[in-house]
Amino acid sequence: MARKILVTGGTGYIGSHTVVKLQESGFDVIIVDNLSNSSIEVLDNIEKITGIKPEFEQFDLADKEKTDSFFSRNSDIEAIIHFAASKAVGESVEKPLLYYRNNLVSMMNVLECQIKYDVPNIVFSSSCTVYGQPDVLPVTEQTPRKDAESPYGNTKRVNEDILSDTAAANSKLKTIALRYFNPVGAHKSALIGELPLGIPNNLVPFITQTAAGLRDELKVFGDNYNTPDGSAIRDYIHVVDLAKAHVVAINRLLSNKNKSNYEIFNLGTGNGYSVLEMVKGFEKVSGVKLNYKIVDRRAGDIEKIWADTTFANEELGWKAEKGLEDMLLSSWNWEKHLRKIE
Ligand code: NAD
Ligand code: WQD
Repeated sequence: MARKILVTGGTGYIGSHTVVKLQESGFDVIIVDNLSNSSIEVLDNIEKITGIKPEFEQFDLADKEKTDSFFSRNSDIEAIIHFAASKAVGESVEKPLLYYRNNLVSMMNVLECQIKYDVPNIVFSSSCTVYGQPDVLPVTEQTPRKDAESPYGNTKRVNEDILSDTAAANSKLKTIALRYFNPVGAHKSALIGELPLGIPNNLVPFITQTAAGLRDELKVFGDNYNTPDGSAIRDYIHVVDLAKAHVVAINRLLSNKNKSNYEIFNLGTGNGYSVLEMVKGFEKVSGVKLNYKIVDRRAGDIEKIWADTTFANEELGWKAEKGLEDMLLSSWNWEKHLRKIE
């Protein structure tokens, strides 16, 4: 019988791509999502890709009773990938309590149920945001974390601490925190992808929406950073590469290959691209000229960051394979599919 994985936040952007990869690797998947930032149609689209509709329950993981009831009824779950969280940095500054409640309470409810119902394995979605602006580049997993720039960023830092402290106190628990750099791109079928609500905050959805005519112009935040072209640098990673890393992490835990019961891996490509390189790269792959304007820096932005991926490459045996062209072209194909552009 196939082994069953719980994917919280599985109808979301990274979750849906990971569900596809888990199913393609022979796992049974059950998704829990409250659909606060995703849509139920994602389940049909996953089925169109893999031929399998994942099991699904809709509820809020910050609700302790519902979470407990779910685990009491699903004793065949062997591992969890915990994506469910609120992720809008700006909103978290305006509504810190919403973010602390949603992101921290959900995590604690899941961990308490794991201990109560004996589910030993969990992979947690962390973020390169925990590094802030690092003093030395590229960043390894040992690079010191910095004070968070936002309540959202702080929930990632605190959730990492909750995970490591809980793992230290419960020897049966096996945990992995994956620090994602900047996830972009979409499945090659263009059936699943990122669905930003309202005006996108992130660069690539803003680029594709501008190209699709939904936005008048892209604002490039700052051209006076200490970088070769003056715009800020990030390590963009294709969401499908990211999804594959989750399958590797789950297999590592299920086969007891983990070296300690709290492990951290950076998930990036190891390459940094500037905002202007992203703009030029998009214009090249799409053939669409972008209307963009240089404006002031965005508050809270860091200048540059990219990952040292040695540990993930050597210890997980995982390496990002997809390059910038694929990231930008698949994002564009997804946007065109959404907007019914030929
Ligand atoms: P997403 O918003 O697309 O997916 C998150 C899903 O969780 C959504 O479907 C939402 O409805 C669900 N959810 C939120 N709170 C919930 C709750 N209390 N109970 C049940 N479901 C809930 O986001 P994503 O981009 O796929 O991100 C997934 C994870 O990765 C998040 O934890 C996010 O913080 C983290 N992460 C994302 C990025 C990024 O840039 N996308 C970068 C680093 C880390
Ligand atoms: C990338 C670059 C912007 C929009 C955020 C979160 C982080 C993580 C990933 C979850 C920056 C520039 C952007 C625009 C622009 N999420 N930009 N014009 O800021 O690296 O990270 O998402 O953990 O926590 O903070 O990603 O895509 O917003 O920005 O010039 O309209 O693009 O200034 O240099 P960021 P981003």
